[in-house]
Amino acid sequence: MKPTFHPPLNVDWASGVLCGAPLICKTTSLGDLAGVFADQESWRQHDPSQTVYSVEMFDSPSGEGELYVGVTHLNPGRVGDEYFMTRGHFHARREQGEVYFGLRGEGLLLLQDEQGQTRLERVLPGSIHIIPGFTAHRLINTGDAVLSALAVWPSQAGHDYAALANGFALKVTPETVKLMAKEVQNG
Ligand code: PA5
Ligand code: NI
Repeated sequence: MKPTFHPPLNVDWASGVLCGAPLICKTTSLGDLAGVFADQESWRQHDPSQTVYSVEMFDSPSGEGELYVGVTHLNPGRVGDEYFMTRGHFHARREQGEVYFGLRGEGLLLLQDEQGQTRLERVLPGSIHIIPGFTAHRLINTGDAVLSALAVWPSQAGHDYAALANGFALKVTPETVKLMAKEVQNG
C-alpha cells in the first residue's frame, strides 16, 4: 500500500510559535482574574486590560484518546508581591495527566494534589514536567521576560477551575524564590 505523506506541525523552540495547522488562541487579562491574586487592593489598581497570558493551541480533533498541543506565553509582572501566573486548574477528568516543556524564560510550575499538598518545579528552557492525574497545575513567571511552555494533554481532560475557587494553598512571591534557591544550594 502506498503511504500518504503529511508535512509535520511545527514549534519554534526558541519562541514557542506554532505553525502548520489552524490555531485557537485565548488571551487572559488581569481583569479576567478576579479573586486570583491575594492582594485585591493592588489588583484593582492595575489596568484590567493588561494581558497576563495567552494560549495558542492547534485546532485538532477532540475525541476520546486524542491529544491537544498548545503553548502558554506568560508575561512577567506582579500583583502586589505575587508573580503573574495562570489561573490554574484540575482536569475535569481528574485521572488524566499532562506534560509541560519549558521553552523560554524562567518560572515555576505549582502542583497541588487533592489533599492540598503543594510542590514546585523550576521551569526553564528544556525542562520537562510530568503532571500526574489528580494534580492541579499553575504556571508562575518569576523572571523578567516572557515565560513560554509547551503542553500536551488528553483532549477529553477538560478544565475544572471551580474546584480551586478558594485558590491554591501556596502563594509564590520573591521570598519563595529565595527560599528555593537556598534549598537548592544546600542540596
Ligand atoms: O492545558 C493546560 O494545562 C494549559 O494549556 C493551560 O490551560 C494554560 O496554561 C492556561 O492555564 P489555565 O487553563 O489554568 O488558565
Ligand atoms: Ni491542564
